[in-house]
Amino acid sequence: MANDDLRALIRTIPDFPKPGIQFRDITTLLLSPTGLATAVERMVAAVDGPVDLVAGIEARGFLFAAALAVPLKAGVLLIRKDGKLPGATIAEDYALEYGQDRIAIHADACAPGARVLLIDDLIATGGTARAAVRLLRKAGATVTQARFLVDLPDLGGADALRAEDIRVDALVS
Ligand code: PRP
Ligand code: HPA
Repeated sequence: MANDDLRALIRTIPDFPKPGIQFRDITTLLLSPTGLATAVERMVAAVDGPVDLVAGIEARGFLFAAALAVPLKAGVLLIRKDGKLPGATIAEDYALEYGQDRIAIHADACAPGARVLLIDDLIATGGTARAAVRLLRKAGATVTQARFLVDLPDLGGADALRAEDIRVDALVS
């Protein structure tokens, strides 16, 4: 399957969740067995070197984090919206393309120096991913790479993440 075919499985919903936002909806790709398997295989193939933990960002990032962690023989670290994790947490605020939010991880989620791969379905402004990197680094993780299914390059998030010394790759732009 070509990357153009993966792109064709992602639909655009106008004016969601707010007027003027062109929402790239990956639920249609998730419904396709071939599309999902191809996306996961390509994301795995794009990973550099050994990884101890795959950190997935709520909610759609969880799907890809778990799917990548199994073949990479890594664990999964959940980056959740604040208030959802039961143990002691550390949190970071960030600005979204369409609002403001706060994400958190368990304070004891990773050993110092753990090699953590950051995963999400999509990078737009990069606000979420950059907050995730700050959070993981605060927890002592070594974060050098992030992988996404979709990059919206006009919003500059991938470049902003690269400026934080992260290797960034996405299957579809
Ligand atoms: C979306 C997407 C990324 C983030 C990207 O999640 O899944 O996590 O926004 O935007 P950014 O690069 O501008 O920060 P959303 O916050 O909509 O949460 P959800 O997955 O729980 O719906
Ligand atoms: N699709 C999905 N998630 C998003 C988008 C989008 O277009 N923009 C910001 N987060």
